[in-house]
Amino acid sequence: MECWLRWFLVSTPVNFYPFCGVYMWIEEHRNWESVDYAPLLSGHLFPPEFMWGVATASHQIEGGNTNNWSAFEPHSKSGQLSGDACDHWNRKEEDIQLIKDLNVSHYRFSIEWSRVEPQQGIWDEEAIQWYSDLVDQLLAKGIQPMATLHHFTHPLWWNEKGAFEKEENVEDWIRFSVKMFEALSDRVDWWCTINEPAVFATMGYVLGEFPPGERSFKKTKIVSTNLMIAHARCYRTLKGLEHGERTQIGLVKNINIFDPYRRWNPLHRFQARLLDGMFNLCWIKGLKTGRFKPPSGLRSKKIPGLKGSSDFIGVNYYTHLLATPFMPTKVDIDPLIRPWEERTDFRYPMYAEGLRRAFDMVSCLNLPIIVTENGVADDDDDMRPEHIRRHLQITGEAIADGMDIRGFYHWSLMDNFEWAEGYDQRFGLYHVDFETKKRTLKQSGALYSEIVKAHRMPQVVILAGGLGTRLGEQTKSVPKSLIDVAGKPILSHILDWAEKQGCMEALILTGHLGEQFNDFRHQGMALTFHQELEPLGTGGALWNARHLLQDRFILLWGDDFHPIDYGELVAHHQQTSSPLTLTVTTEHEQMNLLHIDGKISQYDKSGDQPAEFNGYESGTSIVEKSVLLDHGKEGKWSWEETIYPEMSMKATAYLNNTKFWDMGTPERLARLEEFLNETRF
Ligand code: GAL
Repeated sequence: MECWLRWFLVSTPVNFYPFCGVYMWIEEHRNWESVDYAPLLSGHLFPPEFMWGVATASHQIEGGNTNNWSAFEPHSKSGQLSGDACDHWNRKEEDIQLIKDLNVSHYRFSIEWSRVEPQQGIWDEEAIQWYSDLVDQLLAKGIQPMATLHHFTHPLWWNEKGAFEKEENVEDWIRFSVKMFEALSDRVDWWCTINEPAVFATMGYVLGEFPPGERSFKKTKIVSTNLMIAHARCYRTLKGLEHGERTQIGLVKNINIFDPYRRWNPLHRFQARLLDGMFNLCWIKGLKTGRFKPPSGLRSKKIPGLKGSSDFIGVNYYTHLLATPFMPTKVDIDPLIRPWEERTDFRYPMYAEGLRRAFDMVSCLNLPIIVTENGVADDDDDMRPEHIRRHLQITGEAIADGMDIRGFYHWSLMDNFEWAEGYDQRFGLYHVDFETKKRTLKQSGALYSEIVKAHRMPQVVILAGGLGTRLGEQTKSVPKSLIDVAGKPILSHILDWAEKQGCMEALILTGHLGEQFNDFRHQGMALTFHQELEPLGTGGALWNARHLLQDRFILLWGDDFHPIDYGELVAHHQQTSSPLTLTVTTEHEQMNLLHIDGKISQYDKSGDQPAEFNGYESGTSIVEKSVLLDHGKEGKWSWEETIYPEMSMKATAYLNNTKFWDMGTPERLARLEEFLNETRF
C-alpha cells in the first residue's frame, strides 16, 4: 500500500486520558519483514526469571461439565456441545507432560466451581483433590500453577439464583473461592479472580452470544458492577487468609484496542472512544480509583475495597477493532480490517502492535503486568508461528523500554472448546483430534518451546556427595548439604537462590548418607536425586549421572553459597560461545588460577601457587555437557583437577567478585550462618 495512503488512514495525534496519564493512541503498523527476530531465538530478549506459560480454562478442556455453559450450548451460535471436550479430566498426567515438553515454567488453569460445589453447600472432596493433585504434579515437574477462580462458568444452582445479576449471590462465589484458596494456597502462589469481566458482561448481556444470551443494557450495568464487587471482595478476603500475604492475586482484563476506521471522520473517532471507554477504560479506572462506572452507566459508584485490589494486572490480548457508528453487533459478520492486515480464523486481524498499546493502557495502574492470554485461531497453523514471534517481540521490546512485564501465557496449550464457536476455532499449540483425543505438537508449539528454552535458565547440578570430613562429628550422621544453617539445610538456601534466579530443575548428586535426601523437597523446583554407591569424586559423580544431565547446566557445590546473578553469567557464557565458564574472583586471600584474556590458562588447588596466579574459582560454573562427554571417564576422578587443565585456554573466566561462602570448617560455617541470618534472601 502506498505510504501516504497508509499514513492518511491511520495517523492520529496523541490522546490524553485524565486519570490514566497519557497513553499513545497511535495506530502503529510496522513493517514486520524488516524485524530481526534473532534475539528472540537466541534467548536475549527476556530476563531469566520471566514467567513462560500456557493457559487453559476448565470448561474448554475438562469434558463432562454441567454448568451455565453446558445448559446454554444447544442455543449457542454453533450449537455445538462441549461434551467430553479434550477429556482432560481423565488425561491430567498426559497433559502435564505436554506442558513440560513445551519447556514452560508456568501453567494457568481455571477451577470448575460446578465440580467442586455441584449443589449449594455440598463440596465434592474428590474434585478438590483432583485440583490438588494437579498442583502437586505440576510442581513436581517444576511448573508453577496459576489458578483462575471464575472463567465464564458456574454451577447451575447458582445460575438459577441469578448468578452475577444479584449482588447477594456474590457471597456464594466468595465461599467457593475461600474453599479453594484454603485447599491450594500453600502451593499455588498465583491467583486470578475473574477472567475478563467485560467479555462476560458484554457477550452475555449485550451481544447475547454467551449465556444467558440476553440483550439488556440494564442487566449489563448490574452484572458489570457485581463483577467488580465480587473481584474486590474476593481479593480482600483471600488476602486476609493464611498465605494471603505471600500469594499474588489479580484481575484478568481483556484489552481490545478500538481504532477509528477513518481517522479523519469524527463519528468514527467518537465511536472508537466510546467503545474504548466501555470495554477497557471504565474497568481500569475502577481498579485505579475504586469508583466504577459500568458500561453505558451514567454515574460512577464507589465499590468498597476495589481501589488497589490487584497485586498484578493480567492482560488478555487478541486484536484491535476498527470502529464506525454502524459496526455489526453480531459476531458472524466480518469485522473491518486494514487492507494490509491478515485475518485470523476468527475473522479479526492479527495486530501485534496493539499489545504494546494494551501495556501502555494498563500501565497507569502501576502494577506488574502479566500477559495471561495471547494466541490465535489458526486451523492449519500457518499463521501462528509468526503470531507468536510478533507478540513476543513486542513484549520483549516493552520490557527493554522499562515496562514491568513479568510473564507471557500462550492461549492455549491445546485446541479446545471455543465457547460459542464450538470446536471450529483452534487455538492450541497442540492439535487435538476430538474423536480420538490424540494430541500432536504443532510447528508453532515447537517454535514456542524453542524460544522458551533459549530463555530459560539451565538445569542446576549440585555436587552433594562429599564426605565433609573437615566438619568433624556432624557429617558422620548428616550429609554436608543437609546441615542446618540459619534455620534450614544449606541445600535449601542454595536452591532458594537458584529458584530466585529462574531455575526450575535441579539434579542433586549424592553419595555418603544419600538416603537422607529421600524426603527432601523444594517447592517450585523439580528435583532429581542420583546417588553414587561408592565415592567417585566430583568428576566420577558427574560421569555416573551423565544420562540425567541436560545439554547445558549450572554446576554448583553442595556446601557453597554463592549468590551471584545467573542471568549475567549465562549471558557471558553464551556471548563467548564457551564450552565451560568458571566464575573467578580476584578478591580472595589465596589464588588458584591464572586467567589471560578472559580464558583460564592454569589451575592448581594444591596450595603452592605460582606468584603470577591472579584469580580464585568461586564456585558457580556453566558447563556444556559435551565437555564431560569428551573428557570424562569411568571410575573415581576429580572434575576440577582433570577438566580445568585439559580445557586450558578454552574455558572462559567470568570475573565477578560476588562473595562466596563455603562451610568447609566449623569457623566458616559460623560465618555463613551469620551472613544468612543478616541478609535473609
Ligand atoms: C478469551 C477467553 C478464553 C479463550 C480466548 C480465545 O477471551 O478468556 O477462554 O476462549 O478468548 O478466544
